[in-house]
Amino acid sequence: MNILLLGSGGREDALAWRLRQSPSCEALVAAPGNPGIARWAECVQADPSDPFAMTELARERAIDLVVIGPEAPLVAGVGDALRNAGFKVFGPNAEAARLEGSKGFTKDLCWANKIPTASYVRVDTALAATAALDGFSLPVVIKADGLAAGKGVTVATTREEAEAAIAAAGDGAMVIEDFLVGEEASLFALVDGETAIALASAQDHKRVGEGDTGPNTGGMGAYAPAPVLTPELQERAMEEIIRPTARAMAAQGAAYSGVLYAGLMLTADGPKLIEYNARFGDPECEAIMPLIDGDFAELLMAVARGRLQSIEPPKLLPRHAMTVVVAAKGYPGQPAGGGAIRAVEAAEQVEGVTVFHAGTTLADGALAASGGRVLAVTAVADTFAEARARAYRGVDAIDFADGFHRRDIGWRELERGAATPEGSAE
Ligand code: AMP
Ligand code: GLY
Repeated sequence: MNILLLGSGGREDALAWRLRQSPSCEALVAAPGNPGIARWAECVQADPSDPFAMTELARERAIDLVVIGPEAPLVAGVGDALRNAGFKVFGPNAEAARLEGSKGFTKDLCWANKIPTASYVRVDTALAATAALDGFSLPVVIKADGLAAGKGVTVATTREEAEAAIAAAGDGAMVIEDFLVGEEASLFALVDGETAIALASAQDHKRVGEGDTGPNTGGMGAYAPAPVLTPELQERAMEEIIRPTARAMAAQGAAYSGVLYAGLMLTADGPKLIEYNARFGDPECEAIMPLIDGDFAELLMAVARGRLQSIEPPKLLPRHAMTVVVAAKGYPGQPAGGGAIRAVEAAEQVEGVTVFHAGTTLADGALAASGGRVLAVTAVADTFAEARARAYRGVDAIDFADGFHRRDIGWRELERGAATPEGSAE
């Protein structure tokens, strides 16, 4: 089949890499892609959030399947436009993408369907938000309703902090909710209408600094699977959270199709939903792709065709993967672009390592940084500890003076006593 992949980040580089290995993938086109994706796909300079441009491109290239990577095209209705034009699409329509686009919508859906999540109120003005604080104990969580790239959430430990967050947000739709205590894990499920199958779990590291300190980012590193989400807890999350959500969306005429990413808090009372995303996580996707067995393109096509129920469930290799993000200094603030990146090839000489490109550009044939998150160095191995060791060997081989990374990705697993690599004296 001919596949069109939308997006330009590390997530899309990993998707392109995995799709390219699928026997059923004949041609792979990416819009707009990046220098990493260009290793596996033909990159076409076009706006992935422009429904008309994407429909035209799909027609021109006789595309059989469109895979939508990021949330912006989903929320902009690119999936709807392509489906209306007769194309098969992996990724939900705009109405179903509201599970990510509106926190208030998702909270109401959870409440109406008894899906475990933090208690909350929805408000539309700063005055109402401040008044609503009286009903919550501290810490309290304040969230802007719409897409905010992970920056619209404040966990306030004092009343003053809560009021300051509300004042900074100004008038506009907000959700105020209880603080959940526990460990976070991400669950990725394939959903087509009322059918939902677990694909993989992962654990992200959202804060910029070691020891999970400093501001939130899109994610500084991830590993898969997440052992903390045991098979029992995963099945519970599928049964209590994902499947009721799929049924509720279908019942309201907004059937979901694509990957549904649940950010979970594993509380003492079981898994609770923190938020949904209508796409793969980034960098979780980079850590999941090396673990997927079988023909990945066929799997995504089965979801796009609404045939998830009639295929063999997806299988994961019994291995471990870790992704360490190398970001440009200044991230998640305004990073200085243009820093030279060398020796990516040396990193890929390390066994099991693939370097996905998140924010790179080619200037006169030389690789340079062009974004906050620049590289997603990913390693796969038979054990967690070996995957981690390989990932950092890869990171250390790269020459990127303007970059930085966290040295403690996977610290929770280490603390839990993940075995050190065989033959290592650590
Ligand atoms: P979100 O954008 O909703 O995923 O929130 C960003 C981060 O804020 C999450 O990954 C959590 O670490 C934290 N967070 C959000 N909501 C809650 C909550 N109700 N209780 C505890 N932490 C939360
Ligand atoms: N890594 C978090 C996200 O993709 O939203």
